[in-house]
Amino acid sequence: MTSVSNSTTEIPEYHDVPDTPPIPRTAVVPAAGLGTRFLPATKTVPKELLPVVDTPGIELVAEEAKSAGAERLLIITSPGKDGVVAHFVEDLVLENTLAKRGKAAMLAKVRKAPSLLDVASVIQEKPLGLGHAVGCVEEYLDDDEDAIAVLLPDDLVLPGGVLEVMARTRQRRGGSVLCAIEVPGDRISAYGVFDVEDLPDANNPNVKRLKGMVEKPAPEDAPSNLAAAGRYILDRKIFDALRRIKPGAGGELQLTDAIALLIEEGEPVHVVVHHGTRHDLGNPGGYLKAAVDFALDRDDYGPDLREWLTERLK
Ligand code: G1P
Repeated sequence: MTSVSNSTTEIPEYHDVPDTPPIPRTAVVPAAGLGTRFLPATKTVPKELLPVVDTPGIELVAEEAKSAGAERLLIITSPGKDGVVAHFVEDLVLENTLAKRGKAAMLAKVRKAPSLLDVASVIQEKPLGLGHAVGCVEEYLDDDEDAIAVLLPDDLVLPGGVLEVMARTRQRRGGSVLCAIEVPGDRISAYGVFDVEDLPDANNPNVKRLKGMVEKPAPEDAPSNLAAAGRYILDRKIFDALRRIKPGAGGELQLTDAIALLIEEGEPVHVVVHHGTRHDLGNPGGYLKAAVDFALDRDDYGPDLREWLTERLK
């Protein structure tokens, strides 16, 4: 977890503008992975449904998309992972039971996910990589959708607001916009890494032009310490690029390689550097930190957890 005070969302140029555009109508959430790092839990429970305190990670990501203005959630799943989508479907039997018992607070919690966005799913039949997964959604978009938002559910980017800054950047500069975080050199090889340059006309120093991008480079080959943090606004041209890439890092079709191709061909691609918190729900260690971080902020669990942790750490 990185934590510094000057969040991108505090920059007035981007924060206080009344006409900040919403993010693209469709928010795509790739959730087709096997979750092997969470075995044995993920033998039957999809990783995306593991609770951060009491709320599945994918619901937190759906809330983020909704508050940035998305209208539709397209969840990419793999065969047998329908539970992820079921979480966004109303359960009238459960709702009736809670209502009859007068459990209003629980009822509100249960109703939240289905009420957020219009949810649909796309099945990725084979695990051919993130690039392949994103490519699967093209046929489900309307003709007038010129961009999509992609939110990786492994990444929690806090505080909210970075998608709005990204949408504003696309409005001003066109093309695609990605979210970047600073990552220490010894961990950079786990990410898509950016080659950036400062913009002479930038009012927000956190907005940079992307000159290139490389997926999971060796530390000595990393072009910077700025890495992709799982939030993308991608111009529709991404689908054409995705059709032209070859398998890359890990033998998979990488979204990073399609973005690099767009840059090579002169398409505008920018990053917004996020200086807030980012949790990685993709591994048990990062997931635990997120759960503790969220729980400490809650009135119901926070005080007791803080007391216990203090005692435990003595
Ligand atoms: C994916 C992307 C990578 C990005 C990362 C962020 O990698 O391919 O570019 O930096 O998510 O979490 P993964 O974590 O799926 O290996």
